[in-house]
Amino acid sequence: MTDFAPLLAPDRAQKARPVHLVDKDSFPGWLKKRPAEDRALLEAHRFDSKTGFAFALLPRGGDFEVVSAVKNAGALSPWCLAKLAASLPEGTYRLAEGEPAAAALGWLLGQHRFDDYRSKKNGPERGPRILVTGEAARIESTVRIAEATALVRELVNRPAGDLGPAELEEAARNLAARSGAKFRVTAGEKLAEGYPLIAAVGGAASKDRAPRLIELEWGKQSDPRIAIIGKGVCFDSGGLDLKPASGMRLMKKDMGGAAHALALASLIVAEKLPVRLHLLIPAVENAVSGNAYRPGDIIKSRKGLFIEIDNTDAEGRLILADALTRAGEDQPELLVDFATLTGAARVALGPDLPAFFANSDELAARATDAAREVEDPLWRMPLWEPYDEMLKSDIADLANSSNSPMAGCITAAMFLKRFVPDNVEWAHLDTFAWRDAPKPGRPKGGDALGLRAVFALLKGRYLQG
Ligand code: BES
Ligand code: ZN
Ligand code: ZN
Repeated sequence: MTDFAPLLAPDRAQKARPVHLVDKDSFPGWLKKRPAEDRALLEAHRFDSKTGFAFALLPRGGDFEVVSAVKNAGALSPWCLAKLAASLPEGTYRLAEGEPAAAALGWLLGQHRFDDYRSKKNGPERGPRILVTGEAARIESTVRIAEATALVRELVNRPAGDLGPAELEEAARNLAARSGAKFRVTAGEKLAEGYPLIAAVGGAASKDRAPRLIELEWGKQSDPRIAIIGKGVCFDSGGLDLKPASGMRLMKKDMGGAAHALALASLIVAEKLPVRLHLLIPAVENAVSGNAYRPGDIIKSRKGLFIEIDNTDAEGRLILADALTRAGEDQPELLVDFATLTGAARVALGPDLPAFFANSDELAARATDAAREVEDPLWRMPLWEPYDEMLKSDIADLANSSNSPMAGCITAAMFLKRFVPDNVEWAHLDTFAWRDAPKPGRPKGGDALGLRAVFALLKGRYLQG
């Protein structure tokens, strides 16, 4: 992975190229104070500060300064330096006015590349672009967020053939080894006994890519207990309700929830949040074989509820159900799950906005506030009780999918809710974990959506005072 730490450096008055950030309000005044040759050059480039992320190099006695257009020079967005960091030549830079604040993150992620699968690296190897900052105390936490984001991207981008349940286990095991956490994997007979839904969904791949429940526990027993759960479907073919080619194409990313959960756990550990953390990743491949679970099968869940399988492609909620049940048994005060759960969430909110559900208005308000603050948006959707109707089964306690094409992300969340104890605060993020169209600092491919928001929520909740 990109080594992010050297890319932000404390300001020790070292030599650095000045970077001027201007917006459409500040640009005319700034321009007036520039030497005539700057003005001529910017005019020749038609640099008017109105096109976001546009930048120009201003020659300075054998070297250069940089000017870049940002939306609001007074409140920098996390991404406003990303294109610069990606484009500038190797060297050391310093903002000419002010500090990077949130924009330091984009400086780092603008330099992240996933090229494990390129035999020839893109272009000649370029040295690091270092940003000098007077906010030395923020460097470490910004580097951690960049690392966590890159971890999500790399896990999601890795092809399913190279990242199955065993490799997800390996990634979690690494975190446990680094942090001295307790680590447990349940598979085989024990999985079938204790987690029948996880075993059923992963049954078709049980020979080569066996399903498992991965658990990690970290922190002091006496600290408040929280559980984080991530959907770890390493490939979602749909099962016997096979997806069409177009729907299957991106399904290597169906472990995106697990990647978010793992990255969040690594942040909690690195920042030493005073919590007792329980991470749960049900890891499976939803495949097709003679022993695949079938539409019409009825499976008794860990909780004891009988689930009729209406559609084998609604597999995420099944594996999450057993994991939520397990998490609830220890009475955490807060439960958060991440899942690439429904296409319906994307139809409703598009690619950028995770659908966010919470069983407490206060938790929801805090989460949306945190999301806004760190510019990692979430959009709340309702846990609408009347839609429970849609999950009725003729002969079992409930069905895993509704036969209505409507409100798919809500019915999925209502299904999960059946497995969350009533007295436990719960947040559920139905996230895309993917970016179809690149944006500065955010290439096409796997991406973290909702990770920074939830981490900010947890920091606000557990680090205050
Ligand atoms: N992994 C998919 C959801 C998904 C699809 C997320 C596309 C992002 C993009 C999930 O397992 C699934 O297939 N859900 C079905 C549920 C349906 C069968 C009730 C869906 O959303 O169509
Ligand atoms: Zn599916
Ligand atoms: Zn899925």
